[in-house]
Amino acid sequence: MTVDRQPGPSSYLFPRHPAEADRLDLQHHALREAVGSNYLAPVGVMEQVLDVGTGTGRWGIELCWEHPEAVVVGLDLVRGPSEHPAGYQHVRGDVLQGLPFLDCSFDLVHQRFLSSGIAVVDWPRAVSELVRVTRPGGWVELTEPMVKPRRLGPATRQLGDLLLRQVASLGLDATNAVFRSLHRYLKRVGLELVERQEFSLPIGEWGGRVGSFMLSDIRAVCTRLCERLCSEGAISAEDAADLIRRSQAEFEEHRTVWTVAFAYGRRRR
Ligand SMILES: C[S@@+](CC[C@H](N)C(=O)[O-])C[C@H]1O[C@@H](n2cnc3c(N)ncnc32)[C@H](O)[C@@H]1O
Repeated sequence: MTVDRQPGPSSYLFPRHPAEADRLDLQHHALREAVGSNYLAPVGVMEQVLDVGTGTGRWGIELCWEHPEAVVVGLDLVRGPSEHPAGYQHVRGDVLQGLPFLDCSFDLVHQRFLSSGIAVVDWPRAVSELVRVTRPGGWVELTEPMVKPRRLGPATRQLGDLLLRQVASLGLDATNAVFRSLHRYLKRVGLELVERQEFSLPIGEWGGRVGSFMLSDIRAVCTRLCERLCSEGAISAEDAADLIRRSQAEFEEHRTVWTVAFAYGRRRR
């Protein structure tokens, strides 16, 4: 069923930093704890699962633990985890070049946090490709965040505007167009029983364990993206460090939250 093919160049936002895997795993734990589950779609049979843009493979690995009967394929531009359960397979690929799977292969196709890799104009094509490989009666689930947290202080607002200019220059979502459209993408490709749910995660120690995970996640995101801006001369290292430091205090003061949308739908039988 799987083919290992070298993907082409991409507009993926985040630098391949050694600490990026830890950041993605923290973000995964925060989201699962806040939502109480790894997915929301009411999937029945769970034998073949695909996770597109799997990153560290954490989501897929946990799906293997939850459903030992399932084969879970994690697909990404880059290599996958070196250690994983027997039911997990990693495939290199680019959803925008076509998934290397036959039509109607999977019971659940999951894609999370790809607004940092798929340009706004490419979303409808990417979602069609997810649906192509989903079996009739199978489910597609998408999860994406708002482009900026809510309840911001002045330094966080300034930092957010700076980072979003970088996001927009790559053609990625800087206006919440993807966030708002998730369920519409699924309806437009003909899925039925489409649902959308939003969850707001706290950022900061005020929000307990989830808040402190998110604080580390957001600090790492800002640090990585500011490093790039500094190397391009868009901001000095001192000014970037000052904005990041002030934004950390503002998260506590303003009780900042980060809203994430889930949308899922079933392929018609
Ligand atoms: C922000 S990470 C999210 C990882 C994972 N889904 C999670 O929720 O932890 C996005 C991942 O998507 C991958 N990616 C970006 N563009 C892609 C594309 N066109 N096709 C497949 N994977 C892609 C990146 O390499 C990265 O590992």
